[in-house]
Amino acid sequence: MTNKITSLADYLQKYKESVADPEGFWANIAESHYWRKKWDQVLDWRFEGKDAPHVKWFINGKLNITENIFERNMFMRKDQVALIWEPNDPKEKEVRLTYGELFDKVKQFANGLLKIGVKKGDRVAIYLPMIPELPVAMLACARIGAIHSIVFAGFSASSLADRIIDASSNVVITTDGAYRGAKSIPLKSVVDEALKTCPTVKNTIVFKHTGEEINFDARHDIWWHDLIKGVSTENTAEEMDAEDILFILYTSGSTGKPKGVVHTIGGYMVFAEYTFKNVFQYDDGDIFWCTADIGWVTGHTYIVYGPLLTGATSVMFEGVPTWPDAGRFWDVVDKYKVSQFYTAPTAIRALVGHGDEWVTKHDLSSIKVLGTVGEPINEEAWRWYHDIVGKGTRPIVDTWWQTETGGIMITPLAGIIPTKPSYATLPLPGIQPILVDQEGNELKGNSVQGILCIKFPWPGMIRTTYGDHKRCYETYFSLYKGLYLTGDGAKRDEEGYYRISGRIDDVINVSGHRIGTAEVEDAINQHPRVNESAVVGYPHPIKGSGIYAYVICDELSDEERDGIEDQIRETVSKYIGPIAKPDLIQIVSGLPKTRSGKIMRRILRKIGEGDATNLGDTSTLLDPGIVEEIISGAKVEVKR
Ligand code: WT7
Repeated sequence: MTNKITSLADYLQKYKESVADPEGFWANIAESHYWRKKWDQVLDWRFEGKDAPHVKWFINGKLNITENIFERNMFMRKDQVALIWEPNDPKEKEVRLTYGELFDKVKQFANGLLKIGVKKGDRVAIYLPMIPELPVAMLACARIGAIHSIVFAGFSASSLADRIIDASSNVVITTDGAYRGAKSIPLKSVVDEALKTCPTVKNTIVFKHTGEEINFDARHDIWWHDLIKGVSTENTAEEMDAEDILFILYTSGSTGKPKGVVHTIGGYMVFAEYTFKNVFQYDDGDIFWCTADIGWVTGHTYIVYGPLLTGATSVMFEGVPTWPDAGRFWDVVDKYKVSQFYTAPTAIRALVGHGDEWVTKHDLSSIKVLGTVGEPINEEAWRWYHDIVGKGTRPIVDTWWQTETGGIMITPLAGIIPTKPSYATLPLPGIQPILVDQEGNELKGNSVQGILCIKFPWPGMIRTTYGDHKRCYETYFSLYKGLYLTGDGAKRDEEGYYRISGRIDDVINVSGHRIGTAEVEDAINQHPRVNESAVVGYPHPIKGSGIYAYVICDELSDEERDGIEDQIRETVSKYIGPIAKPDLIQIVSGLPKTRSGKIMRRILRKIGEGDATNLGDTSTLLDPGIVEEIISGAKVEVKR
């Protein structure tokens, strides 16, 4: 395969070249793609100054990403399976779509979208469960130059509405309902609820999946099967500029509502394919399975774009790891003879608890590479994954990256870079990490710990936050001038290996999902009896971090007090979604605030960690007594 690193020496050489001449390095990789018209200039960039960040790759290059997935692969792979879909219920039959079949579905649905007036540049909201129609819908958007904005189907109506409004989407694509293990979720009714506040939406396309009854309004709603009835499978891709937007994906930060991370076509395409084949060392004939949901960036890049650009066979799974039982992942690995298996530490930790037999009773000899993503993996979970799932011999790629980076940034290359438990190890060629101290001074050399930034652009990086370019600068480029701020802390050890320690901002990583504390607080405060709240992360054995909410309420009767925690959880679920429900809720009479009214979260975090032995300087607190009250009533055991 072209552009594949083959050895450690090769990696070291490529890394050196990529730093000495980044433009030459990436241009060489981009040559293997199909461009209608090649670029005039590889890169133009500034992280500071006028309109910063200003990052343009492959300037004036013309292409369509779906021509790189389909037309480019068609000669070799028309009858090769592109997607294997494993349904929620193991008794139901799987679906296998060849490149040829997937291509026809994409072209036909693209024509369906054109028929209802969707145009290049329109934003299409996709709120679908993990079914084959999800990649079909996203690729159909890309085919006609529409921008997809996928919203994870576990988000609430109000979160969906926020995203539809922010992107002013005119079409929503959904299903009647979704399955999740033994549960089913009425997606269409969530959309109906969301659309009460979304005037820009003209049509909702509904794929019939569960067959449950829905509220169908023929003025706006269109069945997927009606939309494509009799529609041709002939379609010529729209010619796009390399810097046209491919997709928007919303993600949480320290402050405010989630922001729409914008990725553009050319750079993202080159980065997705390059990182996919190198990190996982994908070979022809391998079966790749990433267990993420396509509603997150991991699914965008490593279920859909990376594998399909490479011409791989990609597995997508509708269900959950523990239903019908804790052996489901390994059943599926055996069923399809999966070669590369990519999941999240939280799933590994959850499965450890069910015992080794679920794993060891399966063959699993097809597995060549194991991967993890989303949060730091603790050494114990890493060892279990390595020894029990990987039989002590399969390399683990601990891949560090973010929604904003578009693809993997720091990771071992499978079988090439020696691994070390809980270390993401080394940057990919083309990636230039830097550690800085609080003031932004570079920490040079090895054995240092600091804030992880990136000092040079890479093709897959965020271009802007949709509709608010200033916010992009403020969030990622304003703190340390000239650097992209990741929001993570990291250590570089004596051999130059990176170990990511986790977020340094007010973002909590719950089961690999990024949740902003401010968002959860806003949701809690919607409860009519709540006055104020403060939310922090605390160590959780399975989720990595759990959500700990300290809440001030109106005076409550005994009866009200009994129900309040559940009601607060329901409120959060309603405003954000079940993934953001607080694990621990403590009703308090006050919060530790400075005289200027700022909540000292550091203290709340310490208490959540169960350690009040060293709370630091509390002399600036308005009411130091409140700390004692919070410690005595804490929902975890606290060492004093
Ligand atoms: C945050 C990004 C893109 C992957 C899915 C999550 C954390 C991600 C690792 C890792 C330690 C990791 C970071 C990062 N993270 N991968 N291998 N080791 N931490 O994407 O929702 O944008 O979250 O996930 O804290 O900033 P995301």
